[in-house]
Amino acid sequence: MRTIDSLIEQMTLEEKIGQMTLVSAGWVITGPKVSGDYMAQIRAGRIGAISNLWGPGETREVQRVAVEETRLGVPLMFAFDVIHGHRTLFPIPLAEAAAFDPALWERTARAAAEEAAADGLTLAFAPMLDVARDPRWGRIAESPGEDPWLAARFAEAKVRGFQSGDIARPENLAATAKHLAGYGAATAGRDYASVDISERSFREVYLPPFRAAVDAGVAAIMPAFHDLAGVPMTANAAVLRDLVRDRWQFDGVMVSDHGAVAELMAHGVAEDVAEAAALALDAGIDIDLMGGAYTNGLPIALERGRVTMAQIDTAVRRVLVLKARLGLLDDPYLRSDAGSALAARREAPRQLAREAARRSIVLLTNRDGVLPLAEETQRIALIGPLADARDDMQGPWAAAGRAEGMVTILEGLREAMPNSQIGHARGVEIEAEAPSDIAGALDLARSAEVVVLCLGEARRLSGEAASRARPDLPGRQAELAQAVLGLGKPVVVLLSSGRPLMVPWLFERAHAVLATWFLGSEAGNAIGDVLSGRWNPTGRLPVSWPVDIGQIPIFYAQRPTGRPPDPAVHYSSKYLDLPVEPLFPFGHGLSYARFAASGLRTSAGELRPGEAITIECDVVNEGPVAGEETLLLFVRDPIASVARPLLELKGMARIVLEPRRGGTVRFTLAAEDLAFLGPDLRPRLEPGVFELLVGRSAAHAKLLRTSVRLLAP
Ligand code: BGC
Repeated sequence: MRTIDSLIEQMTLEEKIGQMTLVSAGWVITGPKVSGDYMAQIRAGRIGAISNLWGPGETREVQRVAVEETRLGVPLMFAFDVIHGHRTLFPIPLAEAAAFDPALWERTARAAAEEAAADGLTLAFAPMLDVARDPRWGRIAESPGEDPWLAARFAEAKVRGFQSGDIARPENLAATAKHLAGYGAATAGRDYASVDISERSFREVYLPPFRAAVDAGVAAIMPAFHDLAGVPMTANAAVLRDLVRDRWQFDGVMVSDHGAVAELMAHGVAEDVAEAAALALDAGIDIDLMGGAYTNGLPIALERGRVTMAQIDTAVRRVLVLKARLGLLDDPYLRSDAGSALAARREAPRQLAREAARRSIVLLTNRDGVLPLAEETQRIALIGPLADARDDMQGPWAAAGRAEGMVTILEGLREAMPNSQIGHARGVEIEAEAPSDIAGALDLARSAEVVVLCLGEARRLSGEAASRARPDLPGRQAELAQAVLGLGKPVVVLLSSGRPLMVPWLFERAHAVLATWFLGSEAGNAIGDVLSGRWNPTGRLPVSWPVDIGQIPIFYAQRPTGRPPDPAVHYSSKYLDLPVEPLFPFGHGLSYARFAASGLRTSAGELRPGEAITIECDVVNEGPVAGEETLLLFVRDPIASVARPLLELKGMARIVLEPRRGGTVRFTLAAEDLAFLGPDLRPRLEPGVFELLVGRSAAHAKLLRTSVRLLAP
């Protein structure tokens, strides 16, 4: 293997910038393809990586050109947005976050990596780690939800899953933690809009998942599109260079978001492309993803003395080191050689997709025990535009997924309830105002014992550039739902969406509502499992579900106010026209079992820095069926040098219990878990009493509580 230094020595400026350039392949009817123009540029050494091209044959041929027909033969990297699976789709990240299950998050990333690697890919533009507290923002669908602690666990699990400790192995991918950081706080939930948050929120809420990804060894980082209080993240040297590279010691590659370097001009911080390129390089961006800013701007920036050759060499070296770590400098065809990764596959992906999907479903309401459906139910009316929506149910960022590979709700329910007659009517389209057949749907509903109403969003309504000022039921779906509910039959609603939808009337009137998000390839089977009772729901909300858009942004970790909300007190922190609480709190999710927790206790009443305590409570399954319970551990620091949130998540624990059985749930809490950023924004541990609160969700009143005293060292 040639050494990286000798390679850099031999490179012309154009070839160096080529290594710093990533372009997106085009799409033709038969699949992804690299256009002729790009092929010429690859031959000239002007491109170092390609995105949106996959397939063992396709990647192998383009790699052959890079290796055999360029002057220096440096192999390409192949990148792709493997957001929730590759060929097999898993639940969208927001849905998967509802599983509260790091082992599962890791397994699905692993399976996605295996499939993607077998398609010749080397770099995943995932995991997406943006904490999101505003359901108007379409990219909440890609995010692990509202909580920094949970998002940090998600980050570690995903990085472990994609990279498996050694990205040189053919079945592993390099992961990209994105989009650093604060993107979820886009003003008014509008994608790409400016973010203006406090330094404290930035550090306490938005950075922790990125820190966790770096600590887990993530290979790449993608800064976000937005500006943070006026400084676009793509040029934010204070964060990218001083904090992430210097303080966190991140030594991987930073890749810009799509066209984000050139967009520095539109942001109004660079007057031409050379200045944009200089700002980005200065901040530490090694690869320009589309936009051509490095290609067109860096030579001029060099001439002007705005950047140095040493800076360019540093970026090229990082890219080449990543290629070497991926094993590409030893064997450029490592992953394109079909089969190697598939042979190494550890889990059957469809089975895993079904498991992940059912663990992601959240049973939001279940009045009169309408669910699970009785086995002897004779006639079920499956109504709504999402019941048989093979394409839409893929959700945003469907990677190499194909509509034909999806199990629809109709198919899954027919499979799960073989003794029932299941009629189907769309009623209305997802978005269109017309045509519709509400009357036909009502006829079907009248003849059934129970109606399953499949409502929600089209796939294009969530994900990137899919902000919605009114995240409710699009098109004429509300009209359909009102008409069906008016019949007075038991109605079970399945909400397929990339975000919480604000439809309070629906929750009031329907017998049961489930968040079924976009659950991936096995969605229909997983839903069938839950409706039939073959799977007892375990999912919990990773976000607060608002009553109304007027409550946004909404999240449980609020700070106390001098005037706590009290409907009876006029001058208190409340709304005159809406409750302060969400419709469903963070962590909410019902089971067919009924659990009761009691006896919260700690292994010690005090602890010192460097020590840890165990926190336990007893859980009994009082219900008629076996089930799995997840309990959450929150802490509160009631008196500190800065006001701390009313609740902060610090742990989660699960227990599986047969009916009428009990067990013990255990958490560990280290003194360092009680640290926070002091008034100077430096981490500190302040001695004193900390409240420990345990329960199913962030609904404050229902939590068990005890306390522990933190002693001075
Ligand atoms: C998105 C990124 C994505 C990139 C490449 C951008 O528009 O913001 O999340 O990785 O495109 O597809």
